[in-house]
Amino acid sequence: MKILVATEKAFAPTAIKLIREVTDAAGHQLALLENYKDVSELLAAVADADAMIVRSDLVTAQVLDAAKKLRIVVRAGAGYDNLDLPACTAHKVVAMNTPGQNSNAVAELAFEMMLYQARGGFSGKSGSELRGKTLGLHAFGNVGKYMAEIAKGFGMDVYAFDPFVTEDVMKKSGVKACKSVDELYSECQYVSLHMPANDKTKKSINHELLKKMPKEAVLVNTARKEVVDEEGLLKIFEERPDFRYLSDVEPDCKAVFEEKHKGKFIFTAKKMGAQTEEANINAGVAAARQIVDYFKTGNEKFKVNK
Ligand code: 3PG
Repeated sequence: MKILVATEKAFAPTAIKLIREVTDAAGHQLALLENYKDVSELLAAVADADAMIVRSDLVTAQVLDAAKKLRIVVRAGAGYDNLDLPACTAHKVVAMNTPGQNSNAVAELAFEMMLYQARGGFSGKSGSELRGKTLGLHAFGNVGKYMAEIAKGFGMDVYAFDPFVTEDVMKKSGVKACKSVDELYSECQYVSLHMPANDKTKKSINHELLKKMPKEAVLVNTARKEVVDEEGLLKIFEERPDFRYLSDVEPDCKAVFEEKHKGKFIFTAKKMGAQTEEANINAGVAAARQIVDYFKTGNEKFKVNK
């Protein structure tokens, strides 16, 4: 079988080496399309692929139309909002993700941004510390759990809200369970977003919620820019000079931030939460193993489409 790794943002070379070991050992052929600039390159590369590994690359109906032999696509990562799931199903393509594999890298980036911001971007001006501050985890999945673990080391007071996770699970991680999303935002100076982008969550982080945050509020977004209502975000920045926004990916309203709110935000130029060698290895190798196993035994454990 031909397995294509199609990544607009390439994996670390070591990850490719280890992915190749997995595919070679199973007798499959590995093809690479890395750092591609135009979707036409993807359409050509996928034409004879039986399986595909992607990252945030868009797998649309157009891509699936071009992929005449494709049987499985694995998103090496957690969020699969880049896969058109109904189109995958219509094309009889199994879609999977690799949950948890890159979560530590994302949690570390959230802390890196928080620390950099708390120390005024290493300007030398007097900053602030994380110890004793409140951290709210909006969603308590794999990244949320790593966040809680790291936050404890910093001596932070950790809260979480997640309608899909029981109070017991949160308590075991030393996290205070909030009964409502309002409670989370009212209690916590820092709020970090860890939910997927879907019809329910898109634009859900709005002005109503943000205005509940205490003084010196910091919103940290390593999830998806789409979950934040940017109009509401800009409104809160107009009203509250104490507000900060740290985001792994520039918002659509970046120009307004640059013009009016200098020094109050951090935006990474390219989504880099999962961009570590370790995360690339974990997610890439997991994806390769899931494909090999699917071809060998039909295992659909991580299937995300119906
Ligand atoms: C994920 O959903 O796993 C992360 O957002 C990582 O995305 P990336 O593979 O494009 O870096």
